[in-house]
Amino acid sequence: MSSQDWRIGVAGLGTVGSGLLTFLGENPGFAPAGGKVSVTGVTARSRTRPRPYDISNLPWFDDPVALASAPDVDLFVELIGGSDGPAKAAVEAALKAGKPVVTANKALIAEHGAELAALAEAHGVPLLFEAAVMGGTPAVKVVREALVGDELLSISGILNGTCNFILSEMESGGRAFAEVLAEAQRLGYAEADPTMDVGGFDAAHKITILAALAFSCAPNFAACEVEGIDQVELLDIRMAKDLGYRIKLIASADRSEAGVGVRVHPSLVPLDHPLAQAGGALNALFIEGRRLGRIFIQGAGAGAGPTAAAVAADIADVMTAARRPVFQRPAGELTAFAAVDRSRSEVRAYLRLLVKDEPGVIAAVSETLAEAGVSIESFLQKPAAETEGVPIVLTTHQVSEAVLSEAVTQIARHPAVLQAPRLMRIARI
Ligand code: HSE
Repeated sequence: MSSQDWRIGVAGLGTVGSGLLTFLGENPGFAPAGGKVSVTGVTARSRTRPRPYDISNLPWFDDPVALASAPDVDLFVELIGGSDGPAKAAVEAALKAGKPVVTANKALIAEHGAELAALAEAHGVPLLFEAAVMGGTPAVKVVREALVGDELLSISGILNGTCNFILSEMESGGRAFAEVLAEAQRLGYAEADPTMDVGGFDAAHKITILAALAFSCAPNFAACEVEGIDQVELLDIRMAKDLGYRIKLIASADRSEAGVGVRVHPSLVPLDHPLAQAGGALNALFIEGRRLGRIFIQGAGAGAGPTAAAVAADIADVMTAARRPVFQRPAGELTAFAAVDRSRSEVRAYLRLLVKDEPGVIAAVSETLAEAGVSIESFLQKPAAETEGVPIVLTTHQVSEAVLSEAVTQIARHPAVLQAPRLMRIARI
């Protein structure tokens, strides 16, 4: 154990950066290895913006790269965000200067993790990012450290609090997507650009990181299939519930003979499943290992206090000289994960159609499905609302994704089908 004092530079003073300064201010005795922590420099986009923590007595840097390279900074904490630009430049500068880096930046690690791991390794310093996934709820350390003795098979869960909040509120309040998104932004859950949240990209960054750790791969964000919640309608939420399911944005990663598959999409989860019970802005995760079976983690995935606690835990690891390869293996030995060919994978699905209320329509839809070899598990028709047409919903038995997709394309062409069919997978968890 090292009992040296650590001088840290903090780049980015938004929610998490201010949370970290508040944490350090409130815990002057934070000294996991005996040595103390002092902040010897800060940088942010605006020096004067009102913040919950007073920064007037801290040395200010206009340039994050200058802070990362400053001689009196031993450890660089990057909380700027964004996959490129100043965050990446500053992290690279710190690693090249031989300084350990702690970051909460999921986009940076998911998109450039392999090259940064190589840089960290070349300079013999740690690169840690517990706060990048599930905020303060431990996920990275669980996979990287606690489960290293197991062989992980799959990971799936809810990794975006904003989407979970929106879906939960749509269901409980009977409110439309846009109205609840505006509330999530007011409450400060949503990312600066809400597309990152509702488009599924934030969850995709996080599951890309967990997949890399679980399967010792170089993170490959481009290979992650991403679908957000922006097309989920209140009608789908209600119909799914009538069928015994709740719609959740599920991020999943698994390893099979086909390779490592990573995807994010709205899924139907049985109402009594723990993931269906995780409401509001909670995050939740199932991890399945060959020896361990399944474990379940649930907690806050955002917020100043919880996320700063995760940053502090990484700082503690640096101070105690805990060392592991960034993604389980030396950077040069990481395998690649490419996009998996899904056409042969099997799913159960939910299909919602808006059709003309006239004789023979349901028969025609069933015939198309039967001819394609898609077996219907359940069927639900709701009385026509004020709008034109009548919604029908069905769920299928297990079927190949390619077969299902072709059948749905054919159904969409039927003149009695009034809008693009809505297809969602039923979660296999
Ligand atoms: N915007 C993210 C979420 C929090 O809603 O989960 C930070 O990753």
